[in-house]
Amino acid sequence: MLCIGLVTLLSACSYTNASDTPPTPCALPQTVSYQNNVLPILKEDCYSCHNAKDYQTLTSGTLNMEDFSQLHEYTLTSNGHNNTSFLIGNIRHDPGFVAMPYGGGKLDDCEIATIEAWVNAGAPQN
Ligand code: HEC
Repeated sequence: MLCIGLVTLLSACSYTNASDTPPTPCALPQTVSYQNNVLPILKEDCYSCHNAKDYQTLTSGTLNMEDFSQLHEYTLTSNGHNNTSFLIGNIRHDPGFVAMPYGGGKLDDCEIATIEAWVNAGAPQN
C-alpha cells in the first residue's frame, strides 16, 4: 500500500518528459534596474550596431545607446507612434515599427517584459 501511495505521489508531481515542463516564469525584479537588468540585454543584442562608433553608419537609425539621453528619447511614447515608443514597438515587432534587432531574431519574452517594465517606470538611469 505504501509503495502504491508513493508511486501515485511521485507521478503526480514529477514531469515525465520535457514537453510537460511548464515555461520558466519570468521573475521580474520589483524595481527593474537599468544597470543590472536592461543594460546587459542592450549590450548583448543591440550594441553591435548601436554603440557610440557604429551607430553613425546606420541608415536612419542614428541611435547611440551609449548616450543615455538618446536612448531615453526613444523610450518616450511622444516620440514614437500609435502611442508606443520606438524602443518598445521595435523590440515587440509591432506592426508599423522596424523590427529590432535589425535583420533578424527577437528578444525572448522575458527580456521584452524587462525592458517594458523599465520603460513603464519612466526609464530611470538606475
Ligand atoms: C544589425 C544592426 C542592428 C542591431 C543589432 C540593432 N539595431 Fe536598431 N537599428 C538598426 C538600423 C539599421 C536602424 C535604422 C532602421 C531604419 O530607420 O529603417 C535602427 C534603428 C533603431 C531605432 C530607432 C528607431 C527607428 O525605428 O528607426 C531603435 C529604437 C532601435 N534601432 C532599437 C534597437 C534595439 C532595442 C536593439 C536590440 C534589441 C537593436 N536596435 C539592435 C540596426 C540595428
